[in-house]
Amino acid sequence: MSVDEELMLLMIPGPVPVHPRVYRAMSRVLYGHRTKEYQSQYKDTVELLKRLLHTKQDVYLFAGSGTAAMEAAIANVLEPGEKVLNVVNGKFSERWNDLSKAYGVEAAQIEYEYGQAAKPEAIAEALEADEDIRAVTICHNETSTAVLNPAEEIGRIVRKHDRLLIVDGITSVGGDHVYPDKWGFDVLATGSQKCLGVPPGLGAIWVGSRGWEKIQSRKKKLPSYYFDLVKSKKRYDGSGDSPFTSAVSLLYGLHESLTMMFEEGYEQRVERHRRLGRITRAGYLGMGLELLADPKHYSNTVTAVKYPPGIKDSEFRSLIRKFGVLIAGGQGPVKGKIFRTNHMNICIERDVLTTMSLIEITLKQLGYPVSLGSGVSAAQEQMLKEFD
Ligand SMILES: Cc1ncc(COP(=O)(O)O)c(C=O)c1O
Repeated sequence: MSVDEELMLLMIPGPVPVHPRVYRAMSRVLYGHRTKEYQSQYKDTVELLKRLLHTKQDVYLFAGSGTAAMEAAIANVLEPGEKVLNVVNGKFSERWNDLSKAYGVEAAQIEYEYGQAAKPEAIAEALEADEDIRAVTICHNETSTAVLNPAEEIGRIVRKHDRLLIVDGITSVGGDHVYPDKWGFDVLATGSQKCLGVPPGLGAIWVGSRGWEKIQSRKKKLPSYYFDLVKSKKRYDGSGDSPFTSAVSLLYGLHESLTMMFEEGYEQRVERHRRLGRITRAGYLGMGLELLADPKHYSNTVTAVKYPPGIKDSEFRSLIRKFGVLIAGGQGPVKGKIFRTNHMNICIERDVLTTMSLIEITLKQLGYPVSLGSGVSAAQEQMLKEFD
């Protein structure tokens, strides 16, 4: 059996399926980034991003992935020799450690087992114990474990201790609530290929007023050229574009995707992601499977499921791929032990139920005694409750 690759259902947590309207917008003529046409589209897109983030602060875009925006955060906010506290509870929060190392920034760490959420009290203790820590990094929605960290509470604590908070919002922005000003963030990084619903290749960074104060008052800078935010700000404040050639078609796509988000409605969009999360989890649990994340901190955009005994990751994912669904495996210490499916962007109940039923068949074919229909019916029951 083979599947038409062009019709593959992408249930991986990014890149996610892109709406045809976004692809159509991306095929428009490539106005150069110094033209009035481009500048006006860029400004409109920044305004839409600001609306999404409930903020008056501008957002800066880079041709790069989400990691580019994370790198820009470290390179701009910290000074050589300064210390950062990285709160690590998965593969992506660990990336802040790698970036700190790459930039020669001293890094302290609070580490949690995969599946656990960050604890605000532990961050408070660490900040009280070490006055040298200037900034804290967290991953809001840890995609590798499907854990949603309590970012608002952490923001409150970091603000109370007068340090800076740098947040990875790569799989929360556009899918779940994110209020960087209200929640006390100072820098927020995101990327295009997750809940923003655009192909990979754009990184976006938001900086709050305290973040800008720090950037502008640095005595010594970390080396950076492409990611120099002062340069980005000067250019945007002046001619309303970016210092270097922009990813023009991705920008058009982002403009369209953001427009569609507000057509759906911000609250409705977040609620759809949350509802799909509940339906997905009900389905997996109904199938008798276990979830990785602490139930108090389930992600609303991705779900991580433990493999039942005897199921091999590579066999499972290659078999379900033959049925036309692409699913992600685990990373780091949970590699081979879990699989992950997304509920991001244009995902709807149809995609979840289809995936659920094909997972049942795949598990059964691989010898796991799942009762066919158990996951689908549990997901359907949840759906009935949701639409009651
Ligand atoms: C939470 C999170 N942070 C960072 C990244 C890295 O982003 P990118 O692959 O766009 O560089 C990802 C990618 O999956 C992610 O999910």
